[in-house]
Amino acid sequence: MNNHAIQVKGLQKSYKQLQVLKGVDFAVEKGSIFALLGSNGAGKTTVVKILTTLLKQDSGTAIISGHDVGSKPDHVRQAISLTGQFAAVDEILTGRENIIMIAKLRYLPNPRQVAEDLLKRFGLTEAADRKVSTYSGGMRRRLDISLSLVGKPQIIFLDEPTTGLDPEARIEVWKIVKDLANSGTTVFLTTQYLEEAEQLADRIAILHEGKIIASGTLSELKRLFPSAKVEYVEKQPSLEEIFLNIIGKKEGA
Ligand SMILES: Nc1ncnc2c1ncn2[C@@H]1O[C@H](COP(=O)(O)OP(=O)(O)OP(=O)(O)O)[C@@H](O)[C@H]1O
Ligand SMILES: [Mg+2]
Repeated sequence: MNNHAIQVKGLQKSYKQLQVLKGVDFAVEKGSIFALLGSNGAGKTTVVKILTTLLKQDSGTAIISGHDVGSKPDHVRQAISLTGQFAAVDEILTGRENIIMIAKLRYLPNPRQVAEDLLKRFGLTEAADRKVSTYSGGMRRRLDISLSLVGKPQIIFLDEPTTGLDPEARIEVWKIVKDLANSGTTVFLTTQYLEEAEQLADRIAILHEGKIIASGTLSELKRLFPSAKVEYVEKQPSLEEIFLNIIGKKEGA
């Protein structure tokens, strides 16, 4: 066994004539937080769908927790959970009922206790018995992430976990993600928010025009760009500057 939770090699995927992934390679260490960065339409969700067995690649391999997504999808599903880009909670049910439903689907021994614990952990105890249709966006997102923790998966996939959240709710989600990684869970997230990757990720990969065009720790990415000297004050490039530079856009363009 090696120390990788996820290993991806030469991943290719087209939708009809549109080639979205043109040979994507990366690896994610167990217990780390990995951020896949890319603009709208870069193919982030496509990567997530392939890694979570929802979509088949045209070629290349993806190994999740030692299992090949193509030949051992059931094993992969046992090891992972996915919080998709769009909230998957059931509006008509209460928060508590949503969690209990998933716990039952996963055949867990004590669904009520599982719900109680997760509601507490995510600060949803008070709202637990209200229909989700009355929840704010931030509460919905927290519930959504709590659902993906039912059954304690080894690897969790979060596709744009904080898109549409206000800064406060975003910071709450960041804390949840950090806690998860600290407790040994591997986190794979996609984001368009460079600050999010900067705050959370142990390693960052930039997906652009079908390939990973840069990857590494934040400091490795920063080293790709010499810091500019501004009147004796050394200015570190922000991840945003690095990102725009790598994908070849001028700021403000
Ligand atoms: N089922 C599909 N059929 C045809 N084209 C698709 C399909 N799914 C995605 N695409 C196209 O593939 C490209 C990549 O889409 P994808 O959803 O993976 O991007 P993304 O990086 O997740 O974007 P966003 O940041 O907007 O969520 C886009 O051009 C999209 O229109
Ligand atoms: Mg997407």
